Amino acid sequence: MTLLHDGELSAAFDHAARRYDLLTAVNPGYRADLRRSARRLRLPGGGDRLRLLDLGCGTGASTAALLAAVPHAEIVAVDASAGMLARAAAKPWPPGVSFVHAPAEGLAGAGIAGGFDAVFAAYLFRNVTDPDAVLAAVRTALKPGGRLAVHEYTLSGSAAHRAVWTAVCRGIVLPAGRLVGDGGLYRHLWHSVLAFDTVHEFTARLRRTGFHRVRALPLPGWQTGITHTVVAAAPDVRRENP
Ligand SMILES: C[S@@+](CC[C@H](N)C(=O)[O-])C[C@H]1O[C@@H](n2cnc3c(N)ncnc32)[C@H](O)[C@@H]1O
Repeated sequence: MTLLHDGELSAAFDHAARRYDLLTAVNPGYRADLRRSARRLRLPGGGDRLRLLDLGCGTGASTAALLAAVPHAEIVAVDASAGMLARAAAKPWPPGVSFVHAPAEGLAGAGIAGGFDAVFAAYLFRNVTDPDAVLAAVRTALKPGGRLAVHEYTLSGSAAHRAVWTAVCRGIVLPAGRLVGDGGLYRHLWHSVLAFDTVHEFTARLRRTGFHRVRALPLPGWQTGITHTVVAAAPDVRRENP
């Protein structure tokens, strides 16, 4: 399997940034599904006085989904690819949205302190070299009881869903990726989904790394059994052991 890691993955995203919005625009449900996952954070009051972290924000599609769910929240959007981040930052945003160039593995070093009410990570975890370390960093960044929503390609484990994913990649994703000159990144997309946790393995990983109230929720259409929103919460000792 051809997988990209760390610097070479960021370089591939830098190169793909120019065409990224075009390719996701023709992916049925891409933006609607992100909005659905953002709503699944179930944040109150339109996000008033809430501080959110969008980890792996890319060109800002996940940031826009968060904003649609909680228009009054303060959002810090972080990405390791300068090219993707520049595309995001060039879009019009309300004053509460800011962008930081940093790897998920280096939040503290980039001056991103804790105290977040929620973290959203869309299509990030399958790309990181050490998901447990990034989950530990997310736990540290969250307030006690703070919420996490991971929107990710996490296969059900059934042979049929694995076959659908490979058919979609061979028939659409890889030809489109080659057409725009980013064949390597889209081959990584195909293989990284096959190599990553199934949804059951990922929920187990979240529990093992200390998250509470872990639940996997399906997404509709062709993504059923392929993409999930996995929601969880950082432990809150005061509420859970009164
Ligand atoms: C598939 S894109 C998704 C972008 C966006 N969240 C969305 O939903 O459209 C994944 C993003 O994660 C970023 N990324 C990958 N590994 C990362 C890491 N270790 N730290 C921070 N960002 C990372 C990539 O640069 C890329 O912009």
